[in-house]
Amino acid sequence: MPDQAKHLLLVEDEAPLRTVVAEQLVDRGYIVEPVDSGEAALTRLADFAFDILVTDLRLPGLDGSALVDAAVERYPDIVAIVMTGYGTVKDAVEAIKRGAADFVSKPFQIDELLLVLDSAVEQRRLKSENAYLRAQLEDRYRFEGIIGKSPAMTRLFQLLETVSRTNSTILITGETGTGKEVVARAIHHSSARRQHRFVALNCSAIPETLLEAELFGHVRGAFTGAVGNRQGRLEQAHKGTLFLDEVGTMSTALQMRLLRVLQEREFERVGDSHTTKVDVRIIAATNSDLGRMVADGQFREDLFYRLNVIPVQMPPLRERREDIPLLVQHFLGHFQSAATVSQEGMRRLMSYQWPGNVRQLENAIERAVAFGGGRGQIDVADLPAELQRLEAASPIPAALALPDDGVDLEALVADIERELIQQALERTNGNKGQAATLLRLKRTTLVEKLKRQHA
Ligand SMILES: Nc1ncnc2c1ncn2[C@@H]1O[C@H](COP(=O)(O)OP(=O)(O)OP(=O)(O)O)[C@@H](O)[C@H]1O
Ligand SMILES: [Mg+2]
Repeated sequence: MPDQAKHLLLVEDEAPLRTVVAEQLVDRGYIVEPVDSGEAALTRLADFAFDILVTDLRLPGLDGSALVDAAVERYPDIVAIVMTGYGTVKDAVEAIKRGAADFVSKPFQIDELLLVLDSAVEQRRLKSENAYLRAQLEDRYRFEGIIGKSPAMTRLFQLLETVSRTNSTILITGETGTGKEVVARAIHHSSARRQHRFVALNCSAIPETLLEAELFGHVRGAFTGAVGNRQGRLEQAHKGTLFLDEVGTMSTALQMRLLRVLQEREFERVGDSHTTKVDVRIIAATNSDLGRMVADGQFREDLFYRLNVIPVQMPPLRERREDIPLLVQHFLGHFQSAATVSQEGMRRLMSYQWPGNVRQLENAIERAVAFGGGRGQIDVADLPAELQRLEAASPIPAALALPDDGVDLEALVADIERELIQQALERTNGNKGQAATLLRLKRTTLVEKLKRQHA
C-alpha cells in the first residue's frame, strides 16, 4: 500500500532512455528495476509482485501489449503504464484494452510520466478502498438496511435490536431525511410482528377532515360520500405495526382519540357505535420538537408520554460524517453504478452540512451518477452547486488572533496540526485514508506526519 515506496519494473530497449528514466524515478522515491526486453520483464514478474509496470510498447521480442496482458493476468492490482512512440497511439489504446491504466507518448518530460503514474496509482487506491468499503457494507455496518458505523449509529442499532423484541410504543424524532421511516420499518421487520402488516399513515399529508376516517375507518353513511363500510389504517395494521408519521400535525380532537387507542387498544369507526379492539404496535415519528409543543399547549402532554415510551433520536448526518463514505457506496450500488468518487469529491461530500441529511445525500449521488457515472469517476463538478461552492469559506477559525506578546509560531502550528490530525482520526475511526481526505493530505503525507509526531 502507499505507505511504502513503490516497486516499479521499467521495460525499455533503448539503453540511454532506460537509464535516464530509471534515475529520475529513483530520485522521486520509486524502487526501480530496469530491464531491456519483454522476456526479461516476464522473468522478473514471475518472482516479484511489482506495484507498477512501465513499459515501452515497441520491443524487439515480446511487445508491450502482450507484456501488460501477462502482468495484469498474474497481478490484477498492478498499475501498468505504456510508453508509446510516435504513431503508435492505436497500439496504446490496444494496451489499455488489455488492462493498462494509461499511456505517455514519447518524447515525454519526466513530470508527465510522474503525473500519469500518480493519478493511476491514486485510481488504484480508490478502487481498492471502494472494494474494501463495499465488503464492509456486506456485514457489520447495517441493521435491516440501515447503514452506519459511527458511534451514534452503532448505539442506535443496539437500541433497535432491543426494542424490536418489545411491543412498546416508540417515538422517533429527528430532522428531515435522517431515516425515521427506515428505522420504523426496520423495527417492524425484525419484530415478532413481521408476518403482519406495516401500515404507514402520514398525518400531515391528509386533510384534517379525512384523517379521522382514514385512521379509524367509517361505516356507510357516516358522512357525505361514505358509501360503504371501510376499514381504517388501525384495523389494517391489526397484529402488525402502525407507523404514524408527522404525528405533531394532528389536531387536538384527534390526539384525544389516539390517546384512547394507546390506553385501551380500542376505538370506534366513524359513525359506528360498536367498539373495535385492535392489537397494534404504534411507532410515531416527528421532525418537530414535541416537548416544546407540549410546553406551548399545542400537543397533549398525556399523549406525548404515551407515545414517548421509548424515544429514538436520529442523529443528523453532519454529526456522523464518518458514515458518509459508506452511505455513498451504498447509494452507488443502489443506483447500479460502479463509479468511484474522486478524493476531492469525497472531501466535499464529507465536509458539507447536509441540512436534508441522508435523503439529500442520496439525491446528490443519484444526480452525480447521471452526470459523472459514465466516466467511471465522480468528481466535484458532478456534485450539487452547494458542494462546489464549499471552498469559498476561509479555513482560518475566527477566534485566531495574535496575542499582545506574540506567539511561538512553530510550536503553535505543530499543536494545531497534532490536534486536527487527532480529530480527523477520531472522526474516521482511525481510517488513515479517510482522515487524509479530510485534511487534504496524501495518505503517505499523513503517515509521515504521524511517524514524526511519535518519534
Ligand atoms: N442510515 C441509512 N442507511 C441507508 N439509507 C438511509 C439511511 N437513512 C436514510 N436513508 C435513506 O434516506 C431517505 C430518507 O429516509 P427517511 O424517509 O426514512 O427519512 P425521514 O427521517 O423519514 O425524513 P422526513 O422527516 O423528511 O420524512 C430514504 O431514501 C432512506 O432510504
Ligand atoms: Mg419520513
